[in-house]
Amino acid sequence: VGLGPGTAEHRTAAAARAVSEAEVVIGYGPYVEQCADLLHEGQEVVRSPIGDEVVRAKQAVAEAAAGRRVALVCSGDSGVYAMASIALELAEDVDIEVEVVPGVTAALAAAAAVGAPLGHDHCSISLSDLLTPWDAIERRLRAAAEGDFVVTLYNPRSRGRDWQLPAATTILSQARPADTPVAVVTDAGRRGQETVLTTLAEFDPGIVGMTTCVVIGSSATRMVGGRMVTPRGYQS
Ligand SMILES: C[S@@+](CC[C@H](N)C(=O)[O-])C[C@H]1O[C@@H](n2cnc3c(N)ncnc32)[C@H](O)[C@@H]1O
Repeated sequence: VGLGPGTAEHRTAAAARAVSEAEVVIGYGPYVEQCADLLHEGQEVVRSPIGDEVVRAKQAVAEAAAGRRVALVCSGDSGVYAMASIALELAEDVDIEVEVVPGVTAALAAAAAVGAPLGHDHCSISLSDLLTPWDAIERRLRAAAEGDFVVTLYNPRSRGRDWQLPAATTILSQARPADTPVAVVTDAGRRGQETVLTTLAEFDPGIVGMTTCVVIGSSATRMVGGRMVTPRGYQS
């Protein structure tokens, strides 16, 4: 179940129903807190530590196989760098019904916070090289640069993983002007949301954290009345 980026306002009715009707709710602690208003007596609630995604998904599949209705919750969308794919893989040979409940992914919440930067072709790239070799990530960055896509970077930086973001912006800078708009959005759609609008030349990776999305414009992206916009082309 994708709970959306943060507050209940950005959570779908289907996600709320899936959590309310579950007998077991499983998720990383802060994500369970994100739906605390929906939890009720009689539900088993499992707050997992960070990481442990496979353990969490195995537990969800095992509970479902035992006949219980389970909500495996995550932030944003359940299928975007999240739990739906691992749950479906683990459930492949198990006789259970799996429903993937979508949510507003961080890129969409971040984009809305700064304007309409995803108004034309765009892609998302995760900079986490924990499960994906850096070679593959670099190839995708080069392809996105070559294709002139607006790029949303997920997992841009964490403690101990800080060289990937400057490497990514260097690749994109080779293909786009120095004044290309860049949005740095932290805690999009959550209380405490922070937005910084800057350019590729002036971008400071130091302000990026674990709950930040970085949206880098294409060659067509521009500032319109203080907002970041990628035109669809109507004006021309
Ligand atoms: C493992 S991914 C999970 C993505 C999530 N399933 C989604 O659809 O938004 C974690 C990364 O998503 C981004 N992220 C998640 N929630 C965010 C938010 N509220 N604001 C900005 N970025 C967020 C950050 O880049 C973070 O490092």
